[in-house]
Amino acid sequence: MNALNIPTITLNDETEIPQLGLGVFKVDPGETERIVSDALEVGYRHIDTAAIYGNEAEVGAAIAKSGIPREEIYVTTKLWNDRQGDAKAALSESLDKLGLDRVDLYLVHWPVPSQDTFVSAWEQVLDLREAGLTTTAGVSNHELEHLERIIEATGEFPAVNQIELHPEHQRQELTAFCRANGIAIEAWGPLAQGKSDLLTLPQIQEIGAAHDKSAAQVVLRWHIENGTIVFPKTTRRERMEENAALFDFELSETEHAVLTALEAGRNYSTNPRDM
Ligand SMILES: NC(=O)c1ccc[n+]([C@@H]2O[C@H](COP(=O)([O-])OP(=O)(O)OC[C@H]3O[C@@H](n4cnc5c(N)ncnc54)[C@H](OP(=O)(O)O)[C@@H]3O)[C@@H](O)[C@H]2O)c1
Repeated sequence: MNALNIPTITLNDETEIPQLGLGVFKVDPGETERIVSDALEVGYRHIDTAAIYGNEAEVGAAIAKSGIPREEIYVTTKLWNDRQGDAKAALSESLDKLGLDRVDLYLVHWPVPSQDTFVSAWEQVLDLREAGLTTTAGVSNHELEHLERIIEATGEFPAVNQIELHPEHQRQELTAFCRANGIAIEAWGPLAQGKSDLLTLPQIQEIGAAHDKSAAQVVLRWHIENGTIVFPKTTRRERMEENAALFDFELSETEHAVLTALEAGRNYSTNPRDM
């Protein structure tokens, strides 16, 4: 099985992450093994899952059956909110399900400010990195004030912050802080989770037509050109191929700016501050 030729981003711990992967949020466990197997056959080598998705075992089964050497596949999973006091046991359970002895990236999934245990969760994830159970330590859904607190408490900058990000929700202040501090940005919901009319906007379709690409490819290419890491979710093999065919065209400056101008401060999922 040949890997796609996907560029990598160098993280602040000097490791490399493929800039494109497959996300498996809301992928039914009964379908996950087939979907991840398809993605690996198409040439994806980066899978983003989470304990709460309930499909780590099926992700692991697909990886094991692929026969692809472990070091060639980048695997991310996440610490769920009710395990922030118990990260070591939580990661051990994830690793058992995945059938792996380490993940490449472990993320504190949400800060959950009402619970106020995210600093301790971050400290535990750093310990798990030291123990070799995750190569890289990162966070997800952390707003500026959450990043500032974990950095102040530990002096350690997360390698990534995985946040909702798409043309209608660009998080300028937060992404500027991350970029200035060497925190790579991972976009979840890069296609706005299919909840917006983004892919039917005439201006995006026109740009696509000019490059013989779909609207989804135009949006994903915009993320890639911003240096963002993406793992669009799809259950369909033909869309896995489509979503990975991003490296044979470029948006002009004007085209790129058309997508940037779609900023509307519009998020389609939970605001991390409200949890
Ligand atoms: N850290 C977090 O809190 C968090 C939260 C949400 C998501 N995530 C991660 O981010 C990943 C991606 O985000 P997401 O799954 O929420 O949303 P997304 O990738 O923006 O959108 C997925 C939706 O877009 C559709 N789609 C995919 N490719 C398409 C294409 N080429 N043309 C048209 N439609 C297309 C999919 O439908 P089909 O499946 O029918 O193709 C699905 O309905 C997740 O899977 C997960 O790994 C993380």
